[in-house]
Amino acid sequence: MNIEKNIAIWAKGSTVLMVEQNKLPFSYEIYESKTYKQTAIAIKTMITRGAGSIGAAAAFAMMQAIIEAPDNNFQEYINNAKKEIEATRPTARDLFAATERVYNASKISIQNAIDEAFLVTKEISDSCKNIGILGNTLLKNDARILTHCNAGWLALVEHGSALAPIYEAHKHKKNIFVYVNETRPRSQGARLTAWELNQANVKHAIIADNAAAWYMLQNKIDIVITGADRIAANGDTANKIGTLEKAIVAKEFEIPFYIAAPSSTFDFSIKTGNQIIIEERNPEEVLYQKGLDQNGDIKTIRVASEGSTALNPAFDVTPYKYITGFITEKGILKPEELMVLTQT
Ligand code: MRU
Repeated sequence: MNIEKNIAIWAKGSTVLMVEQNKLPFSYEIYESKTYKQTAIAIKTMITRGAGSIGAAAAFAMMQAIIEAPDNNFQEYINNAKKEIEATRPTARDLFAATERVYNASKISIQNAIDEAFLVTKEISDSCKNIGILGNTLLKNDARILTHCNAGWLALVEHGSALAPIYEAHKHKKNIFVYVNETRPRSQGARLTAWELNQANVKHAIIADNAAAWYMLQNKIDIVITGADRIAANGDTANKIGTLEKAIVAKEFEIPFYIAAPSSTFDFSIKTGNQIIIEERNPEEVLYQKGLDQNGDIKTIRVASEGSTALNPAFDVTPYKYITGFITEKGILKPEELMVLTQT
């Protein structure tokens, strides 16, 4: 695989380029999108995914719509585009924050909207870099870290959120080991986090999602760090399904449980996690799995009883009482300190 740079999404003019995450870890391909509709489909079909990368994709999609919009129907065109982009992944806070910013910037000029889309993307990347530096202070030499889903550079444009402190610790030659939850049903842990850690030579092992409590009981996990898709004002956090369970078990064994996220993922317009809309995805993601056959071709196979259906909530909400702290670009904050993020 020839990976030029650890960047998940970028734009050249009005063309958006993104790592095709559905093909990983089997092949590394770049998907090119030339219209806002193509970019919206890429978000919906998870060609690009993860809170920050979705935010960047949404910013660029809004930018494409503003560039494409005909003079005689400008406002209606971009209003419809905004609705269409926002309907792709309802839980991801970064998506809405991004469309709003680029849309509002277009009220000044088209060029202003273009600049804003690039700025949204750069800010996500810059924030994650800082999250890495700050989060590294929580990792001792020989730390054994558990993570859930993929909150690496694939999910956040660059650097990652939950994985950023891990990369920073590795860069500083700390001896660390990462337990990678498989993260069913789409297996972002096994497919994406493990792939990222392999590329970076970070020691790790994939574990089945339901093995985490067992390792915690045996005192083999020192800290849990996950990402987030939307965080309410009180700290209740939506993240990939399965996060809640890990947080409850971590509290039982007194293992620190941290959420790493840029401030763009915080939604201060909602007081608690009860107001977070949870995306329900296609049951086929549970009933079928994808993998490589012996010829090296990607195949989809059914792994469940014929005739059964499935339920597939993409996220759960972890109440703030289970969260030790939030690793943000502005500092490591306790749930009761989050209002600091509203101050510029
Ligand atoms: O459905 P996805 O893959 O877009 O889910 C998002 C996630 O990868 C996780 O919930 C992640 O921890 C937060 S995104 C940094």
